[in-house]
Amino acid sequence: MAPMLEVKNLTTFYKTRMNEKICSVDNVSFVLEDGKSLGIAGESGCGKSTLALSVMGYYFPPLYYEAGTIVIDGQEITRLAPDTIRKTVLGTEIAYIPQAAMNALNPTRKIIRFIEDVLKAHDSTMSKKEIRSLAEERFSILNLPPKVLDQYAVELSGGMKQRTVIAISTILSPKVLIADEPSSALDVSSQKIVIKLLHDLMEKGFVRSMLFITHELPLLYNVTDDIMVMYAGEIVERGTAHEMVFDPIMPYSKGLMNSIIVPEEGTRGHVLQAIPGVPPNLKIRPQGCRFSERCRYAEEPCRTLSVQELSASAGRSYRCRHKLDDLYKIYEEELPRLLDEDTKLPSEGVK
Ligand SMILES: Nc1ncnc2c1ncn2[C@@H]1O[C@H](COP(=O)(O)OP(=O)(O)O)[C@@H](O)[C@H]1O
Ligand SMILES: [Mg+2]
Repeated sequence: MAPMLEVKNLTTFYKTRMNEKICSVDNVSFVLEDGKSLGIAGESGCGKSTLALSVMGYYFPPLYYEAGTIVIDGQEITRLAPDTIRKTVLGTEIAYIPQAAMNALNPTRKIIRFIEDVLKAHDSTMSKKEIRSLAEERFSILNLPPKVLDQYAVELSGGMKQRTVIAISTILSPKVLIADEPSSALDVSSQKIVIKLLHDLMEKGFVRSMLFITHELPLLYNVTDDIMVMYAGEIVERGTAHEMVFDPIMPYSKGLMNSIIVPEEGTRGHVLQAIPGVPPNLKIRPQGCRFSERCRYAEEPCRTLSVQELSASAGRSYRCRHKLDDLYKIYEEELPRLLDEDTKLPSEGVK
């Protein structure tokens, strides 16, 4: 399968007012293949949204580029001027639905105006009539009534607003769509509609490939082909959605998966557990494994020696000094004890 988005050794940082560097994306490499969807999961603050901004190559202070390359459909976009990125990349090559975008729609403008903005930025010669006919066609394919075009955001329900935001963002049929927590503010039935809509967009060819960001892991299992887990600015594991949910290798992924229930499976085979401690400070770039201070299996070398890089290609890969067989052995040995602890949890603790 041909790669659609190739990110190699990408490092970006925020500069604070105190002139400190916060390295929120640190040496990240991955490939998103044509026709595929890739989930990015991790605790709040690990750098998911910064990674989304960074792969668009569109930098504004306080976010800065440090190193790495970004290639979309064979074309390198790293270090292009912001104006070139805006005119030739955003919307067509890569489109981004920011976190909480639906609440950012200007309430004094009709929906059609946002579409005009996107289309005019791409092709200033388009007439209002052409814009309306394209918008109506796309809205009807996405089961959005055309009357929405003449409404204001405040007149729409939460689910409808989010679907409208998705329709606006994808009007130019991007090769890569990045959806940043697109359903986390919605109720369960609206979440399902939004996820189905994103699937439909891919199936109908309006979006070629997708990065889906969330902290809600059960969502990714049904939504994406592959999942990457991010921790403290780094990708720490990648595999198929099934592998990552049912057979996570790296202790952090394991902890993250164990703190959730996959709806289809219930609690069968899962031990619900919180990950102790808090993520590290991103101002410091330690030598050893960043998860080591919270990892129950960490040994001295984990804290001091650098960990091997994650493979950039699609497929199974994880960052941990422990060998696979050793990790499986540890997990197997501790399971009876964890199950025992689990049965002592008060039932209201299990959501
Ligand atoms: N504008 C900013 N200036 C400085 N630091 C920021 C800024 N935005 C985010 N950060 C820091 O970057 C880190 C990653 O943030 P973010 O990418 O939003 O994480 P996530 O999307 O995974 O919750 C956090 O530690 C956050 O404090
Ligand atoms: Mg975020």
